Amino acid sequence: MVALKRRAAIMISGRGSNMAALVAAARSPAFPVSIDLVLSNRPDAAGLAAARCAGVRAEAIDHREFGQDRTAHESAIDATLRAAHIEIVCLAGYMRLLTPFLVQAWQGHMLNIHPSLLPSFPGLKTHARALRAGVKLHGCTVHIVTQEADAGPILAQAAVPVLPGDSADDLARRVLHQEHSIYPAAVAAFASGATGGLPAADACLANPLD
Ligand code: GAR
Repeated sequence: MVALKRRAAIMISGRGSNMAALVAAARSPAFPVSIDLVLSNRPDAAGLAAARCAGVRAEAIDHREFGQDRTAHESAIDATLRAAHIEIVCLAGYMRLLTPFLVQAWQGHMLNIHPSLLPSFPGLKTHARALRAGVKLHGCTVHIVTQEADAGPILAQAAVPVLPGDSADDLARRVLHQEHSIYPAAVAAFASGATGGLPAADACLANPLD
């Protein structure tokens, strides 16, 4: 019997290398998630073209068209996700803070990858801050999205050494390499219920968010 894959969307703002890692992993029949949609808040995000090239539906919902109205922008995102019958949303370099509207709408169904060992270095410029702090270990974290940025329950982490003479770019490269393995692994574990996060698949045949 072919197992039912959970339908996932990925939200990006730029390059989309984590998106590409998830799309590649999802090609395996054993991966419990299909990537059905990639959304970007920036029409010029390189990841959109990469997703289309990989045969994944990819669309921009440009935040600039909504002015200061963040909720209207997120309502458009939410409507697109629901129309595509998405069950899991993976933020992958999505560089806009979310309002309570979207976080609550997807509570328990939205994951993020962050380039630090949370709870250390939430926010931006994590690699430069790690170097300045003099830490000897740095890394990345996959977590469930909650209202406080970069603070939800942790699903997976990978650590890398900080080596003498490292620049922020060196560290970013070393961390990104780990991101590309832990994000697919964490999404697979989450979707198959190993982390206790998502209802059983047959409970989700109808849209679980309704
Ligand atoms: C990744 O390092 C990701 O962890 C980070 O942005 C990069 C996106 O790269 N995310 C954040 O900083 C979120 N606050 P990618 O577009 O190549 O996946």
